[in-house]
Amino acid sequence: MKQWIDKIKEALTLDELERVRVSIFGKKGELAKAFAKMKDVSADEKPKIAKELNILKQKLQKIYEEKKAELEELKLQKSLKSEAIDVSLYSPRATDGALHPVMHTMDRIIEYFTDLNFAVETGPLVEDEFHNFEALNLPDYHPARDMQDTFYFEDKKLLRTHTSPVQIRTMMNQKPPIRMISPGAVFRRDFDLTHTPQFHQVEGLMVDKKGKVSFANLKWILEDFLHTMFGDVDIRFRPSFFPFTEPSAEVDISCIFCSGEGCRICSHTGWLEVLGCGMVDPNVFKAVGYEDISGYAFGLGVERFAMLIHKIPDLRSLFEGDLRLLEQFR
Ligand code: PHE
Repeated sequence: MKQWIDKIKEALTLDELERVRVSIFGKKGELAKAFAKMKDVSADEKPKIAKELNILKQKLQKIYEEKKAELEELKLQKSLKSEAIDVSLYSPRATDGALHPVMHTMDRIIEYFTDLNFAVETGPLVEDEFHNFEALNLPDYHPARDMQDTFYFEDKKLLRTHTSPVQIRTMMNQKPPIRMISPGAVFRRDFDLTHTPQFHQVEGLMVDKKGKVSFANLKWILEDFLHTMFGDVDIRFRPSFFPFTEPSAEVDISCIFCSGEGCRICSHTGWLEVLGCGMVDPNVFKAVGYEDISGYAFGLGVERFAMLIHKIPDLRSLFEGDLRLLEQFR
């Protein structure tokens, strides 16, 4: 009897207590055995012993219940302690990431053109002279090659200086009509206040049977595009030159810093150049094997768009990774 009580009292965990409970109160437990022995007891002693056994059983049960409650409380306290949250602890504020303003601007540009059913085409960053220059009417001796300072590899491969080679690749792989844009990184040996050796372009191309795509189409889409990107600005087309387009134009918007009044940023002209464009030069169509085709092409620098849209004065701040700038674009 004493040892049964000790067994209950010495249990350290609820599992242990459960094993003790089975060994005492279970079907084959100590109490069951004691009751079984009653059959050997004489008839007049039976009631007395039965009574004693029942009292013992009740006593053990009480001790068991008390022990069980004690161990449960202990377990609760233990888990409360281990799962406790100390609200006074320092926790760094978790911050959400965000798209870099250049990528965000790129997405907006892509969205404008994909809404008009332009396909998005991509190509390799490491190009050859044929796709980057020759097919674009820039033969070896052409002085216009000087316009683009190129990173060359030893095997005459090069880092593409614009995304125009993607237009060449697409035209060589697909039949007209084609309506596409080519967004992506480009590289030039240029590094000063307003140039970085790597930047991003989106170029566009639309070609169809001769006579179907006109300069008027080009003018309409670029005006609509620039109004979508910059809001209510004035737009002008200025005659210009690119080897791969004829005629060619550069497109200006009225300065969004001074509303055309003239300021330092627009060099007191009231205008900001944002795009190059033109009708695809016949020599380009010849290089890709197209006949009786006409089309337009345009190209823009995404960093410049991002700076103008968000009025970021210094190009370098787009590459410094300063969180104070980036956090404003969350
Ligand atoms: N490829 C030209 C550049 O990188 C941009 C451009 C594209 C101009 C298409 C006209 C037409 O400068």
